[in-house]
Amino acid sequence: MSRYARHLDRQGPTNPFPGLKALERRLGRRIPHRLGSNEGLDMPHRALTARFGAEFAELARAYGDAEAFGVRQRLSDALGTPLESLLVDAGADSLIALALRATCEPDSPVIASAGTYPTFGYFAAGQGCRMSEVAYRDAPGLLAPDLQALAERAHRENARLVYLANPDNPGGHLHDDDAVLALREALPEACTLLLDEAYHDFRRDAEAPAAGAVWPGVIRLRTFSKAHGLAGLRIGYAIAEPEALTMLTKVRIHYAVSSLALAAAETVLDHPDETRDHVGAVVACRERLAERLRGLGGDVPPSDTNFIAVRLADADRAARIHRQLLDAGTLVHRPAHPALGHVLRISTLADALAPGRLDALIAGLDG
Ligand SMILES: Cc1ncc(COP(=O)(O)O)c(C=O)c1O
Repeated sequence: MSRYARHLDRQGPTNPFPGLKALERRLGRRIPHRLGSNEGLDMPHRALTARFGAEFAELARAYGDAEAFGVRQRLSDALGTPLESLLVDAGADSLIALALRATCEPDSPVIASAGTYPTFGYFAAGQGCRMSEVAYRDAPGLLAPDLQALAERAHRENARLVYLANPDNPGGHLHDDDAVLALREALPEACTLLLDEAYHDFRRDAEAPAAGAVWPGVIRLRTFSKAHGLAGLRIGYAIAEPEALTMLTKVRIHYAVSSLALAAAETVLDHPDETRDHVGAVVACRERLAERLRGLGGDVPPSDTNFIAVRLADADRAARIHRQLLDAGTLVHRPAHPALGHVLRISTLADALAPGRLDALIAGLDG
């Protein structure tokens, strides 16, 4: 049985607009006169240039590289992943949507943890998939997706797709590669494991060789929104077998990633030390905040992300603290899913450590 939606499991459709950059690469030379793609290349852009500079205006005028060659080349060099196993799109969210479109049909069963990153369920519902949710392992010091339960449910439902955020949102829990590969092994053959690694860069072993590995039957998603600070530009990538990426490409909006986002991603990839330093600062802040809250009696499971989760005694207490913090001008996240109503998630920005910032939380830890 194929892993892909039946209407895609045949020749085509093929992207009608691979674009000028792809043609130039194929011809091995530049094409200086662009009279074929109806862009506004002679728009003067005085206002844009005044605000953002000439390079921005230049990038804005032309369609970007639909194949994101420059970003993929840099990723390939950094991760050791073959070019044909890398697909760039408009953020991990966009890649979640592509994975659903490529693998599922209306009524297809899909599985996720109850309360995990909700965009997956939102997109799955929008596509008419049948969602089945599995409880977290939720106990003092622990908030982790239950891999065994995910695998069992996938068999019971004959699932097309299992979604796992790793490290997890909102728990921050990291399952190591062996555990993830054992989950893959335990899933039905025709089921795809959609492994959302949006927080990958904050893992202790983020630069280990397996970071760029292509795992059969797994679509790994990454983003430039977190460690690289490009959330507003919308860019991320998938690592997967070429066959899977061919399927995602069939349902992809070919110019979904702007020329500006591509250029920005290339720039941050050319300066890995800046990202590394930033990740180091975030991790230090995360550990300080976690230690401080634990010292005050808080239940803060270990996190491999840029946030911590705080498990409170019950949902009412979490709702009250959430409201009190908001009244004081501080927004933390409380998952909307009732299964995780007792959890608050806090981004570990330096601001989280400012004196008084989390007073309502601290006061609520013990009563
Ligand atoms: C698990 C997870 N996946 C994906 C995203 C979104 O990533 P992007 O901005 O690349 O769409 C987030 C953002 O919070 C996330 O937590």
